[in-house]
Amino acid sequence: MNTPPVCDYEGSDYQTSFWDQGGRAYEDGVEEVALKRLLPRTGKLMLELGAGAGRNTHRYQGFEQVVLLDYSFTQLQQARQRLGGSERYRYVAADVYKLPFVEGLFDSATMIRTLHHMADARLALAQVRRVLQSRAMFILEFANKRNIKSILRYTFKRQSWNPFSPEPIEFAALNFDFHPATVRTWLRLCQLSVERQLAVSHFRIPLLKRILPLRLMVWMDALLQPTGNLWQLSPSVFVRNRAVGETPSAPAGAFFQCPACGAPLADTPPELVCESCGRTYPVEDGIYDLRIKEE
Ligand SMILES: C[S@@+](CC[C@H](N)C(=O)[O-])C[C@H]1O[C@@H](n2cnc3c(N)ncnc32)[C@H](O)[C@@H]1O
Repeated sequence: MNTPPVCDYEGSDYQTSFWDQGGRAYEDGVEEVALKRLLPRTGKLMLELGAGAGRNTHRYQGFEQVVLLDYSFTQLQQARQRLGGSERYRYVAADVYKLPFVEGLFDSATMIRTLHHMADARLALAQVRRVLQSRAMFILEFANKRNIKSILRYTFKRQSWNPFSPEPIEFAALNFDFHPATVRTWLRLCQLSVERQLAVSHFRIPLLKRILPLRLMVWMDALLQPTGNLWQLSPSVFVRNRAVGETPSAPAGAFFQCPACGAPLADTPPELVCESCGRTYPVEDGIYDLRIKEE
């Protein structure tokens, strides 16, 4: 299956330049509040899609095991440095469009700041649903094109694209903002039923971040987040979904499948070999590399 290109973070210093030194304490703080509100207290097997350097992973304390999935091997190396090599974490380099897991495996998943790199977001969501058990929980964050700033810019002719139109806007290569109603339609079509929405990061304005104390900013946003169930005018939206419809449970002990041909893949580090198509996948530095290499 031909799938869209991947936004490449290989070798990127994203965690340091954007988060640690980029003045994003407000964004991180409001995302922490949103996750606390949406996450269940406990769970067994969580899939973190587009985990990057593991910025959010420590927020999944109630889960017995967390699988960090990212296309970038170097982002996962950074995550492993941060979180360590304990059995509680599994690191998997793979493409969201070609998830290397058997059907119905996970009881929960999150995807934060990652859908905005998906040129075919509906296909990505369908893949996520495939690996979830029936009644699994899925928290999705997406970038909202219909936010107050873009509405004002459009009204005063400072922006050409219409924030109210349903199609995604690609504002930079492989960077998309979405209309909330369109995302909800995709979720429904993928058998993911919306339970709760939070509008997040209302005050993402450099001047306010400079003059107001961080705690006040986070408190103000926390106050407004529940409006997400009524309307979404913030640049970021968090949605908690429930997987509906029947999905066969993954057979006991089954975990990986070949991302290329879909055959079951035995977990045999330092190399996984697909008995069906013959492809091989290395495990290096504690990271399963299940990306499909060009032949
Ligand atoms: C903006 S970062 C967000 C990282 C993390 N979720 C956070 O909030 O700090 C987006 C991540 O998505 C990953 N990514 C983008 N496209 C992907 C794909 N098709 N499959 C897997 N990961 C992908 C990138 O490698 C990158 O680490």
